[in-house]
Amino acid sequence: MDISQVRNFAIIAHIDHGKSTLADRLIQICGGISEREFRDQILDSMDIERERGITIKAQTVQLDYKNTNQENYKLNLMDTPGHVDFSYEVNRSLAACEGSILVVDSTQGVEAQTLANSYQAIANNHEIIPVLNKIDLPASDPKNVIQQIEEMIGINAKEAIKISAKTGEGVEELLNLLVNKLPPPKGNIDEPLQVLIIDSWYDKYLGVITLVRVKNGVLAPGQKITMMSNKASYEIEKVGVFTPKIKEVKVLQAGEIGFITAGIKKVADCKIGDTLTEEIKPCSSALAGFKPSQPVVFCGLFPYDSSQFNDFKDSLEKLSLNDSSFSYEHESSAALGQGFRCGFLGLLHMEVIRERLEREFNLELLTTAPSVVYQVTTTNNSTQSIHNPMDFPEPNLLKKMEEPWIVATIIAPQKYLGNIFELCESKRGEQVEHNFMGKTVMVKYKLPLSETIIDFYDRLKSITQGYASFDYQIEGNRESKLIKLCILVNQENVEPLSIIVHSSHAERRGREICQRLKDVLPRQQFKLPIQATIGGKIIARETVPAYRKDVTGSLYGGDRTRKDKLLKKQKKGKQRLKQFGKVDIPQSAFLEALKTGENNK
Ligand code: GTP
Repeated sequence: MDISQVRNFAIIAHIDHGKSTLADRLIQICGGISEREFRDQILDSMDIERERGITIKAQTVQLDYKNTNQENYKLNLMDTPGHVDFSYEVNRSLAACEGSILVVDSTQGVEAQTLANSYQAIANNHEIIPVLNKIDLPASDPKNVIQQIEEMIGINAKEAIKISAKTGEGVEELLNLLVNKLPPPKGNIDEPLQVLIIDSWYDKYLGVITLVRVKNGVLAPGQKITMMSNKASYEIEKVGVFTPKIKEVKVLQAGEIGFITAGIKKVADCKIGDTLTEEIKPCSSALAGFKPSQPVVFCGLFPYDSSQFNDFKDSLEKLSLNDSSFSYEHESSAALGQGFRCGFLGLLHMEVIRERLEREFNLELLTTAPSVVYQVTTTNNSTQSIHNPMDFPEPNLLKKMEEPWIVATIIAPQKYLGNIFELCESKRGEQVEHNFMGKTVMVKYKLPLSETIIDFYDRLKSITQGYASFDYQIEGNRESKLIKLCILVNQENVEPLSIIVHSSHAERRGREICQRLKDVLPRQQFKLPIQATIGGKIIARETVPAYRKDVTGSLYGGDRTRKDKLLKKQKKGKQRLKQFGKVDIPQSAFLEALKTGENNK
C-alpha cells in the first residue's frame, strides 16, 4: 500500500473520557476482531487495567479502513494512558504519529490531562481532531465544551464531531474525517533504513518484542540491523502488526508502525527512543528520540515473611522485563530484614506494581513511606542523591539540600478556587497564575513534589467534591531546608516511618504523625509512648493507653456468627503486622500515619 494511504494517530484524553471505548468502536467498525472474540476495552490487556478501568500501557493497532468513496486506508491507532504518572508513554506514542484525536467528555469538559496531552500533541506538530464524546448522556453540553476547548487549548473546535463511543453514534463520520484531515506520514522507502524504537516488552512465546515506527526504508525478516546508540547488531526474525492480535507481515515500510523480533535477549538491551538502521547501508543520522522516563517516587518493599525474599527478587526481575520504567535495588534494614528500594513514576504506578507483585506472584509486601529524590551536599563537599530517609546525613554534616519542584495545573469549577488556594498554600505552594473560563478556573501552582505524593490528590478531590483534575510537570530542583523526622514507638526507632520534611513543617508533621499513629496502633497491655524526634530531640509525644482492645466487646446480644466473623477478621489483620521491639505495627500505619489534614481522618 502506498504511503499516501497510511494514517498514524494517537487517541488522547483525560482519564475516563472514553479513549479505550472509542478504540473498541474503531476496531469493531474496521473488522479488526470478530464479535465472538470481542470484549470491552480490548486494548487494556493487564488484569489491573481492566479491573480499575484505566489504561497503563499505550497500545497500538493497525486497522484496514475503506471510506465512503471506497478508497482503502491503513490506520495505525495508538491508545494512550490518561493518568499523569504515565505521561511519558503518551509522549512516545505522539512521536510516532502525525495526528491526534482529542477526546473530551462532553459532560465533563476540559480537564487537566486534556490540556497537558493537547499541549504535547501541539509540540509534536500534530493535526488535532477534537471529538466530543458521551453525547448519549443527558448531562452532555457540547456547546459549552466547544467554547472551553477553543479558549483553554486554543484550537478551532467549531467543527468538532459529536460522538457516543458507547453506542457508536458519529464514529463512522469520525473515521471519514480522519483520513481526509490527517496528513499521511512523510518518508521514503528508497532511503536507508531509519527506524524509531517506541517501546519494547517481553512476550513468553516470542521473547523481546520491539514496537517501532519506520521513518525511511523497508524492514524485513533476515535483515541485519544495528542500534545506533551502542552499535549492537541483530538479525530480524519477524516483523508484524497488531490487529489487535499479533499478525506477521512480510515487510514494514516507511510510514508504518509495527513490531519486530530479532533475538534480543533482554528488554534493557533495547533502548526506547533509539534509532535502528541497516548494517550494510546505515542512515546518516539518528532520530531525535525521547527523554528516558525517570522514577520520581521511591519506597522500600519488604516481604512480611522473610523466607519469601528470594521469590520476591525473582518476581521483581520478571516484572521488570515488561516494565522498564521502575527501578529496584537491594536494601536491608535492621527492622524489616531484606527487601528492595524501588523507584516509580508516581503513586499510582507504585500501587499498580505492588498490587501486581502481590497478586501475580503471591507475595505479601510491606511498603515504607514514599519519598522523592533529594540532592544533598555534605560538609566534605560530596553530593549524593538520597531517596531513602535512612541514608539522610546527620544535621551537623549537612551543607546544602535540594528537593524537586513541580508546576501543577489544576482545573475545577470556580467556586472551589478559595479551597484550592488554601490547600496549595498549606503545601508550601507558590501561585503562578489563575484564569477563568466560563464557570471553570485553571490554576497553576509551583509546589515541592514531596508535598504532593502522599495525599494531595485525595485532598484536592475532597475539597472540590470530586470535580478537580490535576496534572504536573517536574520543574527542577530548588535549595531547601530539610530535616529528618524519626518516629519512636515504645522508645524504639521505627526506621520505615522516618520521613524527610521541610524544617518549617517539621514540628507540625511530627505532632500529626504521632496523633495518627495513636489512632491506628493497637492497644497493648502496657502504656505505649509514640514520639517524634529530630536529631535526637523529642518534638512531639502521644500515648496509647494500656489495655487490650476487645473488638467484640461493643457488640450487643449473643449473635455468635457476627462475633466469630469479627474475630476472624481481626486474626486475618494480624497476619499483616510487623514486629518492632515488643510492638506489632500494622501495614496501614505506615501509610495512614503520613496523611495530612482533616479530610483523611
Ligand atoms: P483511561 O483508560 O483510564 O485513560 O480511560 P479512557 O479514557 O480510556 O476511558 P474508558 O474508555 O475506559 O471510559 C471510561 C468510562 O466511560 C467507561 O465506563 C465507559 O463505559 C464510559 N464511556 C465511554 N464512552 C462513553 C459514551 O459515549 N457514553 C457513555 N454513556 N459512557 C461512555
